[in-house]
Amino acid sequence: MSGPPGGFTVMTTGELLREGTDRLAAAGSETPRLDAELLLGQAVGAGRTAVVAHPEAPVGADAARRYRADLERRAAGEPVAYLRGIKEFYGLAFEVDARALIPRPETERLVDLAGDEVLRRLASSARPPGSRDLQVVDVGTGSGAIAVALAVRLRRVKAVDAVRILAVDISPDALGLARENAVGHAVADRISFAEADLLPPDAGGFDVVLANLPYVRHDAMADLPVAASFEPTLALDGGANGLEVIGRLLDLLPDAMADGGVAMFEIGADQGDAIVALVDAKLPGWSCAVELDLAGLPRVARITRIARPPVAGSA
Ligand SMILES: C[S@@+](CC[C@H](N)C(=O)[O-])C[C@H]1O[C@@H](n2cnc3c(N)ncnc32)[C@H](O)[C@@H]1O
Repeated sequence: MSGPPGGFTVMTTGELLREGTDRLAAAGSETPRLDAELLLGQAVGAGRTAVVAHPEAPVGADAARRYRADLERRAAGEPVAYLRGIKEFYGLAFEVDARALIPRPETERLVDLAGDEVLRRLASSARPPGSRDLQVVDVGTGSGAIAVALAVRLRRVKAVDAVRILAVDISPDALGLARENAVGHAVADRISFAEADLLPPDAGGFDVVLANLPYVRHDAMADLPVAASFEPTLALDGGANGLEVIGRLLDLLPDAMADGGVAMFEIGADQGDAIVALVDAKLPGWSCAVELDLAGLPRVARITRIARPPVAGSA
């Protein structure tokens, strides 16, 4: 701490980080130091690395005031991502705010699997030159995380022009944010947006159906970390058994999916058996395989229609 001529006290980044870490630890944050670094980096406009690297740097009064105001909001439970307005997902910076769920790292698994699936289909010998664009839908797009990250991955390997992505959400607010992220990542020309309950009535012929729909059991909502209470309930509450919204989408798959299509849904780590049973009950003759994440936990359900054997004597 030092007192410049004129009277007010100038604090250094190191001092403000200690103050913030103590404040957030007392408030129960699980990552108080990291939170403080991110918030101070935001307040001084220099990023986290710079404030960590220069603990002796003086911080101006306005930046210190902004930092302390954010610390108080964080101490009250507001997620750091909303305070910063940004969240890193799939190596990309997504704009985030209370209009939509903050994208979670576990959802990157779905983007990986979706990208592999799309590229495999585009490379397939069953796909002659001049074929129609591959049709992909992201149901419950939220911030647009899945649709945008997938489009960016496909663009990097020059495959995006052969793919059309429809991003759907029931929330117009979320769709507004998703559009902003698509524009921000320069993929808005390959993604269209629709406000609908699961799927627009006339939508169909999808080769790949992706969804990270709400899957938290209604009675477990109260046990979520306080940060989740700042996110839209519509993005999290999966009804009595957690699989109500996903179950309604399963009902639509026979009409929505192209022949040979695949659906990939993110599920909760304890829902592997439940989703297999639900697919068996709702879609007899279809298959449901559960993909694990790096920790070995069920994370993505891969659902396909098993091709019926040709009827004897038919052409
Ligand atoms: C868990 S969030 C996922 C957001 C984003 N896909 C992601 O992975 O970060 C679920 C999203 O589904 C949307 N949603 C909930 N019910 C829906 C429905 N019946 N039809 C369409 N979207 C729905 C919510 O508005 C929310 O944006």
